[in-house]
Amino acid sequence: MATNQPHGPRWLLVLRLTQALMVAALFVFTFAPTLSAQAKPNAQDLLRQMTLQEKIAQLTQLPGFPLVKDAGEKPEDTVRKYGAGSALWISDPKEINRWQHIAVDESRLHIPILFGLDVIHGYRTIFPAPIAMASSWDPKMIEAAQTIAAREARSAGIEWTFAPMVDIARDARWGRMVEGAGEDPYLGAAIARAQVAGFQGTQPGDPDRVLACAKHFAGYGAADGGRDYDSSYVAEEQMWNVYLKPFKAAADAGVATFMSAYMDLNDIPATGNRWLLHDVLRDAWNYKGFVVSDAVAVHSLITHGYARDGQDAAYKAFSAGLDMDMASGTYLQYLAAEVEHGRIPMKQIDDAVLRILETKIRMGLFEHPYSDDAYMQKVLHTPEHLEAARKTVQHSVVLLRNENKTLPLDRKQIRSIAVIGPLADGEIDLLGMWGSMTKPGPTVSILQGIKNKVGGTVKVEFAHGPNIYREIPSFFENLAMVPMKEQPKQSAEEVRKAIDDAVAAAKRSDVAVVAVGEIALMSAEAASRSSLKLSNGQEELLEAVAATGKPIVLVLINGRPLDITWASEHVPAILEAWYPGSEGGNGIADVLFGDANPAGHLTVSWPRSTGQLPIYYNHNRTQAPEDDPDFTSRYWDIKSTPLYPFGYGLSYTSFSYDNLRVGPAASKIGASRDVSVDVTNTGSRAGDTVVQLYIHQRAGSASRPVRELKGFQRITLAAGAKQTIHFTLGTNELQFWSPATKTWVVEPEQFDVWAGADSTAKLHGEFQLTE
Ligand code: NOJ
Repeated sequence: MATNQPHGPRWLLVLRLTQALMVAALFVFTFAPTLSAQAKPNAQDLLRQMTLQEKIAQLTQLPGFPLVKDAGEKPEDTVRKYGAGSALWISDPKEINRWQHIAVDESRLHIPILFGLDVIHGYRTIFPAPIAMASSWDPKMIEAAQTIAAREARSAGIEWTFAPMVDIARDARWGRMVEGAGEDPYLGAAIARAQVAGFQGTQPGDPDRVLACAKHFAGYGAADGGRDYDSSYVAEEQMWNVYLKPFKAAADAGVATFMSAYMDLNDIPATGNRWLLHDVLRDAWNYKGFVVSDAVAVHSLITHGYARDGQDAAYKAFSAGLDMDMASGTYLQYLAAEVEHGRIPMKQIDDAVLRILETKIRMGLFEHPYSDDAYMQKVLHTPEHLEAARKTVQHSVVLLRNENKTLPLDRKQIRSIAVIGPLADGEIDLLGMWGSMTKPGPTVSILQGIKNKVGGTVKVEFAHGPNIYREIPSFFENLAMVPMKEQPKQSAEEVRKAIDDAVAAAKRSDVAVVAVGEIALMSAEAASRSSLKLSNGQEELLEAVAATGKPIVLVLINGRPLDITWASEHVPAILEAWYPGSEGGNGIADVLFGDANPAGHLTVSWPRSTGQLPIYYNHNRTQAPEDDPDFTSRYWDIKSTPLYPFGYGLSYTSFSYDNLRVGPAASKIGASRDVSVDVTNTGSRAGDTVVQLYIHQRAGSASRPVRELKGFQRITLAAGAKQTIHFTLGTNELQFWSPATKTWVVEPEQFDVWAGADSTAKLHGEFQLTE
């Protein structure tokens, strides 16, 4: 019957069907990988297909919102036309997937974008700020914290974090001290390794991990006067021996990327500094990852007076070794002309593009370009993550003073507590600047943490005290994605009343817990200060509450040491809590009430006054040293030693150190030696301490620091328990970069060695190195 053959005979139908299947198969073979998730491509194959502009797009990180006013076309249109290496600061998973679809579905080569965000100490579950975590001296715990940060961020579509910041900071005026591990290169290196391992896992691309970025390369922490972004002048031997060490550790640990710094280093901006980006990073260290600039820093080469214009900036940055332009659009606009005019060889462009493509391939971005909402909901802010954050707070706080065993507070004795201060009920402010800029979950304030701890049995009264705010507002307060706000300014009368109310609350209570310091906007980027004094009437508040004669506990929320000289003599208990993160209030309450025993130790020397800055323990021994009885201070108005030394921190128990042994006492260069010390918990409860080992080389081709940290271990000891701790001192620990020979040397000299609980440890030994 002709009726069932509308398109001709049956064989023709079969033929057409077969043809259609073949065409479909060909289509699938040719294009399917580009429709959604793709198979792992080969970087060289991709490169061969790319136009110059597509290559330059891979060398570009597009801003998620306009950072540079004349950016030209909308960033999404650039993605459509050429693709993009990366996108900055898009933190909403839906928006991430939308951008990714443009890249994968609509751009010619379908190369996915790497999404980068500052996941510095957590994404949804916020851990204590980096300086706080460093104060734990517990690299394993820090690695675990950053593993959680990575898991949460990756689930939301973030593949690349701009952390760890490994800048050495010796000047507390510099706002970014909070983002790093402090002043010491040895500790900084250990913490850099831990963070890289936490973010990246065993190799970049592990599931649930993100790419890490060692920043800001290098010398940013030495900004003149502690003023953020100011020039740094750092002698070459200080670069090698101090500032570069944590970067080298991060590179050795396999960190996938580096970020160049904003400032001039010895008059050459870091972003166009060939010595840093090429001679050190590629030649000396053989680094294989890629380097991104800091935000708009390529364009800023013009601002620095280093580049004549955008063209020159693109040339200077790229030829110095800077692979990716963060958010300034300068490469997009000018780099092609540099290649076309023969000033930049195509080979150099290709090498940089390959580094980026290979990173994307290695991390599985082609196979898994999108975030999965259902998985994300399972991963974010879980009870396990919150518990880890709380433990991290307990481990990170530093007990600076505890006269008459004021702490821990006894829940059975106390009937009422006044919780006082402009940071006592703060939530966002406990997260610090970066912690509040990702996608933080709810935060437990100190007030809430104390209430949670004491339940209904103790009366808890709150008094805010005076508001705190910056005299000069922060640029970050004006960014749409930033929830941080200043507290409103107040008149002198309002301040007086706030203090009076706080005093009245203290009088009505058995004990006062006073939380002062810095709101989140007062620390981190663009948050340098000229004075470390407690601002906005907080010192007056503290002194007035102390004058009531009630027992008082000072809890500091801040990103750097503050001037607490008065408190260090008059306030019996002082707890440095830094920015403690989501579980801050609970973790602090655990410590205040003795459910956790503090053991954090300072990773910066704590100055007595702003005028001492910069201050660091590992300075050289000089004319008229402080241990000379005729010259006990370098100033005539105050002691020149810090208020609290590097490495310092108290516990609710006590420890003794004895029996320091060094073996062998004399040995050849190249051999290593064992240093051991017995540590005893001499108190009545279990606790942790941080056993620290310092050395000093007595003579040589250059002056050497009075002390240098060369080993540490955080240990737990039961009451009365004793443990022998061993350290090894070998070439790695004893070598230094000599300005006399301009090489790394180990010298046949006499060495001192000390072990103890801070950088003033007295327990001493010595050894000799021979040729
Ligand atoms: C500027 C900061 O200096 C840097 O630390 C950060 O990673 C980038 N902006 C991106 O947010």
